[in-house]
Amino acid sequence: MKVLIIGKGGREHALAWKVKQSPLVTEVFVAPGNVGIEDCTLVPIHDDNILRLADFAEQEKIDLTIVGPESCLAIGLVDLFEKRGLKIFGPSQAAAQIESSKDFAKKLMHKYNVPTSEYKTFDDKQKAIEYLNTRTIPIVIKEDGLRAGKGVTVALTREGALEALENAFSEPNRVVIEDYLDGFEFSLIALANGEDIIALEVAQDHKRAFDNDEGPNTGGMGVYSPVDKITPSIVQDTIDLIMKPMLKGMKAEGMPFKGFLFAGIMLTDKGVKTIEFNARFGDPEAEGILPRMKTDLVEVILNILDHKITAIEWDNRYTVAVVMASENYPYSSTIGAEVEIPEDIESYIFHMGTKKEDDKLLTAGGRVLAVVAYGDTLEEAQKNVYNDVQQIKSEKLFYRKDIGAKMCYDNDKNKI
Ligand code: AMP
Ligand code: GLY
Repeated sequence: MKVLIIGKGGREHALAWKVKQSPLVTEVFVAPGNVGIEDCTLVPIHDDNILRLADFAEQEKIDLTIVGPESCLAIGLVDLFEKRGLKIFGPSQAAAQIESSKDFAKKLMHKYNVPTSEYKTFDDKQKAIEYLNTRTIPIVIKEDGLRAGKGVTVALTREGALEALENAFSEPNRVVIEDYLDGFEFSLIALANGEDIIALEVAQDHKRAFDNDEGPNTGGMGVYSPVDKITPSIVQDTIDLIMKPMLKGMKAEGMPFKGFLFAGIMLTDKGVKTIEFNARFGDPEAEGILPRMKTDLVEVILNILDHKITAIEWDNRYTVAVVMASENYPYSSTIGAEVEIPEDIESYIFHMGTKKEDDKLLTAGGRVLAVVAYGDTLEEAQKNVYNDVQQIKSEKLFYRKDIGAKMCYDNDKNKI
């Protein structure tokens, strides 16, 4: 069968790499893909050009399309494909609002008793400030809409919260103010078909740009998987209290969720609470989790679309994925800086934002590479990945040196 993957980042590189291994698949197309993707056919159509993508899938007789990024979901890619009778794994435009509007997601969570923090949504700065004055600090300010993980401020002081509100309302905006959740954050991603889910293994992302969770929020600077602190019973709670009620609620609202359902969860002293949902696989979660998946992803997707649940087999080893980003990320991207990757590197290299000119590999985005290594222990995976990261030469890249360190120290910096 022919599979089309939509998107161009590290997540799509990892998806293409995994789908390519499926014995069911004869050809993998990636639109538009990136220069790191091997043995697949790159299709030069931007992921937001949904009409051309649907035309291509029709002409090429694509049997299954898997969607990577959120922006094309929010403009109705899946609805269009389905209208044309094309099989696609991703949520409809209506269901994708779970990510594209923080306010929408919060309303649904409250309506269906999905544990999350208290919140209010504002279009007016003055009213937002009045509400802020009634809440305790820390507090979280979130701009509504798709912001690639960057429209969120966790304010540790009232001044910081006011500044975040000033920034958010420097133009007309809708802003969610929500109570701070203290705890241990993790990502649980599941495959959903509107009714059933199959959960993947847990990963922990590192959202802040710099070591020790300092600096601005980013799309994610690195993950590791599995996360020992998140026991099977915590995963089951997340499925039973958060994922399943949300899925049921979305079906009841007439917008069943199909595709990768991503829950950002905080393990608090009062149990699991939802930070956010995303309507897609995480990035770099995909790069950290897929190398541990032994079962054929295509088979799992086809089965769940057909209401059959596949038991997924996992590699017991740990993975650590380290993101190498442009020097000023998340504020700006360095484009065109040379990157040299030695031939004999053992880690997987998933390209997030690169291009090639005259056979030279150059940076082409904020997050540039995800480097992923295995280890029998987390410490070994860390050692392996950082050995390789240090061999990648570029003057314009930076990376966090503490991916995985939270497994040894919890948020209060106490040894587990
Ligand atoms: P979001 O885009 O909603 O995932 O927010 C980005 C990051 O901000 C999350 O991954 C958390 O690290 C942090 N964050 C968001 N909401 C909260 C909250 N209510 N309490 C604590 N941290 C939060
Ligand atoms: N890494 C978190 C995300 O994909 O939003």
